[in-house]
Amino acid sequence: MEVLEAIRRRRAVRDYLPNSVPVATLRQLITAASWAPSAMNQQPWHFTVVTERAMLDDISVRSKAWLLKTASDMSSSDHFRDMLRDPHFHLFYGAPALVVISTPVSAQWSVEDCSLAAQNLMLAAVDLHLGSCWIGFAQGWLNTPEGRECLGLSASSCVVAPITIGYPRSEAPLVSRKAPIVTWIGVLPSAESGPPGSSNSPPSHP
Ligand SMILES: Cc1cc2nc3c(=O)[nH]c(=O)nc-3n(C[C@H](O)[C@H](O)[C@H](O)COP(=O)(O)O)c2cc1C
Repeated sequence: MEVLEAIRRRRAVRDYLPNSVPVATLRQLITAASWAPSAMNQQPWHFTVVTERAMLDDISVRSKAWLLKTASDMSSSDHFRDMLRDPHFHLFYGAPALVVISTPVSAQWSVEDCSLAAQNLMLAAVDLHLGSCWIGFAQGWLNTPEGRECLGLSASSCVVAPITIGYPRSEAPLVSRKAPIVTWIGVLPSAESGPPGSSNSPPSHP
């Protein structure tokens, strides 16, 4: 699959089949994630893979309670409050696996690095016919001492991206995008120019 196609096809999947994801497939996703660029090639990411159903349920319950208690921006809207109060609302939508990308070091750019790894992982999931969704709602509680302990992370760790992984039960709806706001500075290349070496590009030096 072409990268551009994977980018277009990736959706936040919120409905999963209960089928578990083979460990070899999870490893493929993590390998793809680890090919992300990182500042000074520090690769400051740590992957925690949770497939234990009881723990997924527990994280969901505790994260919802934490959001309601702390009343962050998201959970203070009526819509989200109702959702979080609903005992049937599972934060992970029944996904059989959660990959939590965290960083053990709070170095400059480690959050950016982990986010790039997260995007690689979600795009690789498309290629492997898997669905994914970054669950920001789980970040708050997972970054508490209890949350870190539950995942076996050190006290200095920062949880950046909890990502559900599983086989989609149904096709996720296409969510529209705003037209990108772009400022062009400089002379725009003509439509005919292409990558170096293509017939339209200027001759290269011998
Ligand atoms: C940082 C971040 C946090 C998110 N948190 C949640 C979440 O807690 N629950 C959820 O269902 N989706 C969450 N999403 C998914 C977004 O809602 C989704 O990407 C967006 O609506 C666009 O839809 P699309 O990914 O299908 O194009 C999150 C996405 C990002 C990048």
